[in-house]
Amino acid sequence: MSENIFEVENLSLHYLGRFGDKTHAVTDVSFNMKQGEILGIAGESGCGKSTLVSGLMGMCIPPLYPTSGDVRVRGESLMNRTVEDIRSNVLAQKVSMIPQGAFNALNPVRKIKDIAADVIAAHQKPGSSMKASEIYERLRSRFDLFGMDTDRVLNSFPIQLTAGERQRSVIGISTLLNPQMVIADEPTSALDVSTQKEVIKMIFDLLDKGIFSTMIFITHELPLLYHVADNIAIMYAGEIVEKGTAEQVVKDPRHPYTKALMGAMLSSEKSQRTRKPVAIEGAPPSLAKKIVGCRFAERCSFARPECKKNTQNIRMVGDREVRCEYAQ
Ligand SMILES: Nc1ncnc2c1ncn2[C@@H]1O[C@H](COP(=O)(O)OP(=O)(O)OP(=O)(O)O)[C@@H](O)[C@H]1O
Ligand SMILES: [Mg+2]
Repeated sequence: MSENIFEVENLSLHYLGRFGDKTHAVTDVSFNMKQGEILGIAGESGCGKSTLVSGLMGMCIPPLYPTSGDVRVRGESLMNRTVEDIRSNVLAQKVSMIPQGAFNALNPVRKIKDIAADVIAAHQKPGSSMKASEIYERLRSRFDLFGMDTDRVLNSFPIQLTAGERQRSVIGISTLLNPQMVIADEPTSALDVSTQKEVIKMIFDLLDKGIFSTMIFITHELPLLYHVADNIAIMYAGEIVEKGTAEQVVKDPRHPYTKALMGAMLSSEKSQRTRKPVAIEGAPPSLAKKIVGCRFAERCSFARPECKKNTQNIRMVGDREVRCEYAQ
């Protein structure tokens, strides 16, 4: 059996429009992850990060469709399976997601304890059903681990909690069944700086306590990824353009887009509240049209005339991957 816990092979995904038009939101993404690895993914808004997350969980719900490729958790493919099958046999146990906005993830008319109990009930093996009191005890002991005001939080409706409590509840619920891997999609966006710190601390407490060990962490903030991730993949216009160790990508970027992104980050470092990369001139290409040549060429200060014609493939530059034939 492969030593990789997670394998993504040439994954492409598209949204199908009403008139048969396609938006190719994710193109040819490949990477593997080992047990215990933290992979950071960064890139501008609209570059396909959240779409990729749907594909990584096997949750391609129309209008999103897989175009090609495969995703495997411990060798088990998640592609071409029904949403019901993925919901009952994969989510929460094998792959769990911490979403971008906690408020949307929580049913507003259910108390936190009932939302969490639903998750446990939905994934119980036949014949092993837990009593309501046992479920509550399990929730209590998990929420207690993180210094939460457990009884009050579990007995509240989402609207009665602070934004930080809601996001920490979502994290507690998503990881209740000790998933093999966790995908956190901008888990701190829309939170203030001190709440962001609380949420990050909780995620890393969960890792330290061994509740899960392998994670994909998506954020706009490269400096944060540098501190938390082992490896970083940079996405641009649906493709991974560079992947290497956190040190390589942040301290010595090789793809012109990563360099531009780092420049934008450094210039905004003084303002901790700056949430999105700024000041890369121009805009990414439309993913609804066929793109010829390098996707970054129009905005690249190193572009040569050939860049607008030649499709760029991932290649090794030293021991990192870069999608630019001129990168050294
Ligand atoms: N339901 C949809 N139908 C058609 N196109 C969509 C749909 N959802 C997203 N897209 C398009 O897919 C592309 C990728 O969007 P996605 O939300 O995955 O980006 P993102 O990197 O997560 O952005 P952000 O950082 O803002 O969260 C964008 O061009 C977006 O407009
Ligand atoms: Mg997103």
